[in-house]
Amino acid sequence: MNDIFLRACHGEKVEYTPVWLMRQAGRYLPQYQSIRSNLDFLTLCKTPELAAEITLQPVDILGVDAAILFSDILIPVEAMGMSLEFIEKEGPVLREPIRNKAAVDRLIIPDADDDMSFVVDTIKILREKLKNKVPLIGFSGAPFTLATYMIEGGGSKNFINTKKMMFQNSRLFNYLMDKLTLTIISYLSSQVRAGAQAMQIFDTWAGVLTPMDYKISVLPYVKKIISELNKERVPIIYFVNDCAGILKEIKKSGADVIGIDWKIDIADAIKQLGKKVVIQGNLDPCALFLSNEEIEDRVKDILWKGESAKGHIFNLGHGILPETPVENAIALVEAVHKYGRKD
Ligand code: CP3
Repeated sequence: MNDIFLRACHGEKVEYTPVWLMRQAGRYLPQYQSIRSNLDFLTLCKTPELAAEITLQPVDILGVDAAILFSDILIPVEAMGMSLEFIEKEGPVLREPIRNKAAVDRLIIPDADDDMSFVVDTIKILREKLKNKVPLIGFSGAPFTLATYMIEGGGSKNFINTKKMMFQNSRLFNYLMDKLTLTIISYLSSQVRAGAQAMQIFDTWAGVLTPMDYKISVLPYVKKIISELNKERVPIIYFVNDCAGILKEIKKSGADVIGIDWKIDIADAIKQLGKKVVIQGNLDPCALFLSNEEIEDRVKDILWKGESAKGHIFNLGHGILPETPVENAIALVEAVHKYGRKD
């Protein structure tokens, strides 16, 4: 198996910089669209044979150094008892948003092995199929990011309801964060037992907070998850979108790898994070609309700067966009493999 990604997560010397892309399985791939054309997204997530097939698509098409489980961060939210729908062109909708204590009381802490057994089954199929290929990354949303969907009832522009609860009723907010934290620990442990070889925690919306609010209301829960999961001995990647203002705090999370978005120069991020963590990132997903030469130039710049970190895993600064030309994604992976050689 190509274990360069796992060795890079541990900060070991590697022959070249490994690369995978957030949202690498998805709508920009015609092979995904053809499976998706007959079935809705949640059905795909809950059908292990199909979820496994979709997970493998970018491994074969792009030649990335890791696979990431095909699923969604909101799957455990549904397992906690909320009704979840994905509406075409709108995104996720949770029809009864959490606004009071009774609603949090009603949430259950799922038994991941039973209540999300389709994830366990997908991972088992994948480990068998990936035996001679690349490692498998499992994932979860972080508690704050999941809380925003639960409180807002879907996506949001300014997260007013979430911040109102955080500021006006911190006990209720913390009660919800506690339940999410327990759910995420059980969910990620279940993924590791099933065979996931690394974990990524997505904190897509934590960057909308002030550094102080992040430090008080978000970081302690992330730290708890990471310290519990450290017992599982698989590397943990913590990705925060819009991380620039809170890197100093993120550094305290205890993650092995910190994923950064593209709005900060990777050299600055490495300076702030220091020598203890491996860095992951951070090409602007829109750079994939440039010419191949321009993509190469940006790849070289990020690779060169990445050399100063304890280790570097190349990735985009956020998910690949559905409009991305597949051949440009292939060119990106080739460029990282070509210019990221260390020998
Ligand atoms: O990275 C991968 O290839 C693994 C699969 C994966 C998906 N979502 C598939 C997906 C992962 C890791 C996610 C994480 C996720 N989901 C995040 C965190 C990462 C990020 O992008 O910030 C968030 C915030 C979500 C919530 C979510 N799921 C939204 C807002 C949407 C709608 C917007 C969109 O991109 O369509 C989804 C749907 C979703 N998740 C799709 C896929 C392939 C599209 C479903 C479809 O219509 O086919």
